Amino acid sequence: MPDPRKLLDDLHHRQALAEQGGGPDRVAQQHKKGKLTARERLDLLLDEGSFVELDRFVTHRSTDFGLEQQVFPGDGVVTGSGRIDGRLVYVFSQDFTVFGGSLSEAHAEKICKIMDLAQRNGAPVIGLNDSGGARIQEGVVSLGGYADIFLRNTLASGVIPQISAVLGPCAGGAVYSPAITDFIFMVRGVSYMFVTGPNVVKTVTHEEVSFDELGGADTHGGVSGVAHFVHDSEPECIQAIRELVGFLPLNNLDQPPERSSADRADRRDEALLDLIPDSANKPYDMHDVIGRVVDDGAFLEVQRGHADNILVGFARLGGSPVGLVANQPAVLAGVLDINASIKAGRFIRFCDCFNLPVVTFVDVPGFLPGVAQEHGGIIKHGAKLLYAYCEATVPKLTVITRKAYGGAYDVMSSKHIRGDVNLAWPSAEIAVMGPKGAVEILFKDEIARADDSAAATARLIDEYTEKFAHPYAAAERGYIDDVIDPRDTRPRLIEALRTLRGKRDRNPPKKHGNIPL
Ligand code: HXC
Repeated sequence: MPDPRKLLDDLHHRQALAEQGGGPDRVAQQHKKGKLTARERLDLLLDEGSFVELDRFVTHRSTDFGLEQQVFPGDGVVTGSGRIDGRLVYVFSQDFTVFGGSLSEAHAEKICKIMDLAQRNGAPVIGLNDSGGARIQEGVVSLGGYADIFLRNTLASGVIPQISAVLGPCAGGAVYSPAITDFIFMVRGVSYMFVTGPNVVKTVTHEEVSFDELGGADTHGGVSGVAHFVHDSEPECIQAIRELVGFLPLNNLDQPPERSSADRADRRDEALLDLIPDSANKPYDMHDVIGRVVDDGAFLEVQRGHADNILVGFARLGGSPVGLVANQPAVLAGVLDINASIKAGRFIRFCDCFNLPVVTFVDVPGFLPGVAQEHGGIIKHGAKLLYAYCEATVPKLTVITRKAYGGAYDVMSSKHIRGDVNLAWPSAEIAVMGPKGAVEILFKDEIARADDSAAATARLIDEYTEKFAHPYAAAERGYIDDVIDPRDTRPRLIEALRTLRGKRDRNPPKKHGNIPL
């Protein structure tokens, strides 16, 4: 029997080798680029001492292009489980110091093992991506590895939360694994995502574009909407992942984690009374409403910087996590357009998957008119938002603060599409359209015949406003459950949430619906 201490020495030597990744020189290069290593990232992400590594001795099996001479235990990805605030998560962290973090057959198998465990044991997967894509030397085997991951991403969708941080280049088909996951985090100056890089773009379309412009963090946080969170540094980004996990259940059969707060459930907020401007055309910032209603004013906004005419994100009410959706009158008057519809539609579906009640604040003048919107498919994209609200069976609470016009009234979590508790402030205007537009259509001839058409228009607008620009016509029919003092919004929402704790609602059995993609 060999000396057990010698065996241990051998084990420790092997462990140390695995922990070195690509070696000190490559680690130094990674640091020189301003990037953390795969293990440093995991140290920041997970509760101290909680990481349990798997597969650290796995190596590639390739012998082409002299690869048999270059074997690194772990093969470019660190995988395992750990805790965030004591709650189980599975993680993989690609190691750019080993073959540029590129994905080999063995590397893919390690990620797949983690995903299988996460799904079986009902815990989120967090992937820290930093990879040059498919390991070129392995050819199709590596492509197969990607496909194995894509399939698992898809099957796990709606079962466990999946979170991706892109902390380096992410090129080619490799972007599609993060894209299927629920949330993508990026860091300015560090993260890049594109299907084809600037050089290929130049060859094919003759466009000259920098890495940042094509696929940097701000491009995806703003223009494309691919990224959900953009940060200035890796530590800040990783801390934000921990914060996000704090709102989420571990899986679709779990409840979101409660967290008590000193913010009293019965707190009224005086400022809400004077928040709506005196003119219907004046903007205000819906962040102010949200901040005054939710626990401790804490709102984790998702996709800030993309389609800011709608706000989505997480907060707590009376200690319970909720998903918030709110029109933003301060941007494009809070109109619904293609990007806003897609942004909010996907967010609502996430909430519905993971038992997060959806709280909607409504101040919406309608859908955005225009050739670009029509030709861009506002019909099908707007339908995504409508579909998402209709389909959702989680508790749905709605507060109309001001405008709820036209189709947008129906869409924004109205009673008709299974809104559970629908409240309005006295300033709410629930109508087919705004007074001016309505009068110009209904009384076109009368206005034309009038001696003073401006005065006639003004009189008709006043009449219409009195008749329709208030919440009571809707309340008379029970489309609004109550018209409330704005100062009571927080206590009313928290009480409503509590009444809905035991809510049971089901859609008809089916394989799946056909959301207008
Ligand atoms: C093998 C790779 C690699 C890859 C990088 N390396 N990418 N090895 N397969 N895909 C190696 C490099 O050879 C180098 O090794 C080390 O990693 C570091 O790379 P550098 O190029 O020195 O780093 P940097 O200058 O930071 O550039 C990073 C990069 C670049 C932008 C990612 O390496 C690059 O363009 N790589 C190729 C990207 C790509 O085209 N991938 C395939 C995409 S197609 P040494 O030993 O020299 O230090 C794809 C298909 C997926 O992924 C399909 C799914 C459906």
